[in-house]
Parts: sequence; structure tokens; C-alpha cells
Amino acid sequence: MMDRRALLIGAGAVTLLGGVARAARSAAFRPGEVWNDNNGVAINAHGGGLLRHAGRWWWYGEHKTAGKAGNTALVGVHAYSSTDLVNWRDEGIALPVSDDPDSPIARGCILERPKVVYNPRTRTFVMWFHLELKGQGYAAAQAGVAIARRPQGPFRFLRAGRVNPGIWPANATAEDKAPDTTLARDFAGGQMARDMTVFVDGDTAWQVYASEENATLQIARLAPDWTAHDGYYVRALPDGGNEAPALFKAKGRYYMFASGLTGWRPNPGRVYVADRVTGPWRSLGNPVRGSEEDRKTTFHSQSTFVVPLPPERSGGEPRFIFMADRWRPDNAIDGRYVWLPVEWDGETPVLRWRDRWTLADGWNAR
Ligand code: DGJ
Repeated sequence: MMDRRALLIGAGAVTLLGGVARAARSAAFRPGEVWNDNNGVAINAHGGGLLRHAGRWWWYGEHKTAGKAGNTALVGVHAYSSTDLVNWRDEGIALPVSDDPDSPIARGCILERPKVVYNPRTRTFVMWFHLELKGQGYAAAQAGVAIARRPQGPFRFLRAGRVNPGIWPANATAEDKAPDTTLARDFAGGQMARDMTVFVDGDTAWQVYASEENATLQIARLAPDWTAHDGYYVRALPDGGNEAPALFKAKGRYYMFASGLTGWRPNPGRVYVADRVTGPWRSLGNPVRGSEEDRKTTFHSQSTFVVPLPPERSGGEPRFIFMADRWRPDNAIDGRYVWLPVEWDGETPVLRWRDRWTLADGWNAR
């Protein structure tokens, strides 16, 4: 007789079959619930993003630990992989923090919103992230970069710093450059980079980050190997107070989800549209369709990424998944994931709550 016992871990189940632990397979996305990996352990990949490579999905995010201290990087960037976006295999720590106290990514730094892209020219996986140096709160506001030969890593930290020192944004006006602006203050040392994402458009990769004390987004082009900025950048939505940028391209136009600035507390989401990555960006308002509470809090979450589904999973229509974090700053490890289909209300991408959903569900993909 086989020894068959069930251990309940969080919302998932691990079955011991003849001594071999197998996590119950998930059939649906369950926004806001605990999502377990193949080992029955809660997925730990916050502020994350997805990459599709060689038929697998890779999810990279911040590995958080228990308590308030868990908001600092004590472990590194965690990777998971999947073929169906619902069941995730633990691939380990792709970029560990460093034990060297002199390293910019020393254990105890703040390392947020990692995003990985694959550069086919160099056959290299390139990870960008928001880095705050240990013990300096959010003052450093740097962009960090690491590379790997394989999606699971190990990623090798290359460098971190402010963006484009000594270079003005291509669209900066004389007024923007006046000596009393944050832009001018940071001209020599480089622009601040906090919440960020990387968006690949054809051959070109762009880093989009909250800059100028979070007042203004900047959109900076990456050099051909994508491991550095090439010096071309623009200011976007000046004084808009946007963070948590998440971009996607649909029917030849660019869309960006973002949030306002309320720390770990949720706020009304925003969505913007542009004809070019570099803008100008135009507001389409709050993408949330639902209750007042849903609209005020974006379902108690903050955007982090938009997943473009490959055409075979989209039934011919381009379909996208909105990825967001439900932060739990007092017990960081317990942060949850809110993934929802991107639907369309005319030309506006919109979000509606679903307790449980699958890719096979019909949704208004335009
Ligand atoms: C909101 C940002 O989106 C998060 O990534 C994090 O930086 C928190 N603020 C910190 O308060």
C-alpha cells in the first residue's frame, strides 16, 4: 500500500505519494491568494516581471523575508519557470545579494522590481533593477544591471548608478534645465532611478523609471547589448507623480499602467497611451472598472508588469495579463500577486476583478 498523506500548506496542497512530494497542480489564476510553487512553497517573486524564452515562461522577482526587515534584500532575485503561467517551478535565486559589505548589492540593500530581457545579439540574459545602497534608505536611487548566460542564472552583477550623467534629456526645455530644477541638480551626477521596468520594442530596449524625486518618469534607451544606457533619454509625464510603470504595445500603440506615489499603500491606478515609446503620453484615466474601493486601490495592488501572450494562446487577438503586487509591508514575505486579464473598453485597456480565471476564459481582448 502506498503511503498517501496530504499536507496543507497555505492555499495549496502537497501530496506525499510513496515518499515523493508533489504539489497539487493549479488550474486557474487566483488573484490575491497564496500561489504555491512546485514544492508547495509560496511563490516569492515580488515586484516581478516575466520573460518568455525557448517555450518557457520565466518569472523574476524580489525574494522577500518575514517581518518589516523583509522589505530589504536579504536573499536576492528569485526565479521560477512555467509552461502554462499557472504552475511554477522553483528555479532558485538567480541573483544573490553579496556577502561583501562593500558591494553595491550587499545583503541588506534594497533591490526592487527586477526585470529580465534576453538579448539575441549577445545571447545574454540582462537583468535591470532598482537599487538602493544599504543603510541609505531610498536616497541612492540607482539603476543596477546583471547578466547571465542561462535564464536561471547565476546572474553576474555588473554595475549600478544614476542614469546618463552629464547628458540632458532629448526633450528638455530651457525651463527644465533651469538651475533650480531637480533635473539640473542631478545633471552632473546622473538622474535618479527608482521604480522601473524594461520594455523591448523590436531591436531596441528602453528603461522606464521614476526619476526627479519621483515627480517625472524618464525613458532611457539602452545600448545595443542592453547592459548600459546609450545617452538618449526623454522626460515623460512631467510632474505626473507616476511610479510602478508597466508597458505593452497593442495594435501599433504603446500603453503604460502606472500608479501614484503612496509608498506601500495602494492608490488609484493610471493608464496612458502614446504613438511612440518616447511619448508624448496621454492619460486614459483609471483603468479599473469595479467598485469605488476597487478604483481607489487598484484591487489593493500596484502594477509591476504586463505579460504579452503569444498569438497561439491569444486565439488570434493580442491578449495581455496585468501583473500587480499586493504589498504586505509589515510582513513582506506575505505580499500577494494580482494578475488580471487586460480587457478593452473601446481604446482604453481596462481591468475587472476576477476571483479565479484561466487563459481559456473568454475576455474582451478588443
Ligand atoms: C512603492 C514602490 O512601487 C515599491 O516598489 C517600493 O519602492 C515602495 N514604494 C517603497 O515604499
